[in-house]
Amino acid sequence: MSTEKEKELAAKAAIKYIEDGMTIGLGTGSTAAHMITALAEEVAKGLNIVGIPSSESTKKLALANGIPLTDFANISAIDINIDGTDEFDPYLQLIKGGGGALLREKILAFNSKLNIIIADCHKQVSRLGKFKLPIETIPFATPILIKKLRIMNLHPILREKDNSPFITDEGNYILDLDITHISNVAQLENTLKQLPGIVETGLFLDIADIVIIGRGDTTEVFKR
Ligand code: A5P
Repeated sequence: MSTEKEKELAAKAAIKYIEDGMTIGLGTGSTAAHMITALAEEVAKGLNIVGIPSSESTKKLALANGIPLTDFANISAIDINIDGTDEFDPYLQLIKGGGGALLREKILAFNSKLNIIIADCHKQVSRLGKFKLPIETIPFATPILIKKLRIMNLHPILREKDNSPFITDEGNYILDLDITHISNVAQLENTLKQLPGIVETGLFLDIADIVIIGRGDTTEVFKR
């Protein structure tokens, strides 16, 4: 069974949690794209929901598929947020931001009653850190942050696209950090959030309520 099929299986399992009248957080990435396609099919059959997108790319995809959208001016909470991940550990702690949408993704997740994470089975790890940790930084502060993060032994790498810095939907930069030597990710999160110029990190700690993965031709569900 292909990785794409596993993503699709997880995505289809997640949309079964959705009920009529709900507001749905729409994640970003290839797994979330499967969820948007599957959700659009339900909307076409009459399911009455509104989505709130976590990125400009997801917004485009959702609109192209006929999913009605809203924003935080019109709602106070999201009923269910469904998003992908780059890694999850046995405690359902996550690294996200491989696609660079971590800031809006975390805002959606924080404001959701239920967070469902969907993934293929290769995203399961015993310990976070094989995937480099993305953090979103303000361009003005990024050069000094790179110096500080080097001293902290986090080996920051400025993410690039077409030989220029990758720019997020909020006009910021992404630094990818090596956290393989870090044992306490909660402490790391606190330390990073205290550095002015770091807008957000891709550590999603105590956020996922349910993780659904596709493994072969079945799904596995992990609950917190
Ligand atoms: C986007 O910024 C990310 O957080 C994605 O949710 C994550 O990278 C998973 O993407 P895939 O589903 O494409 O692997």
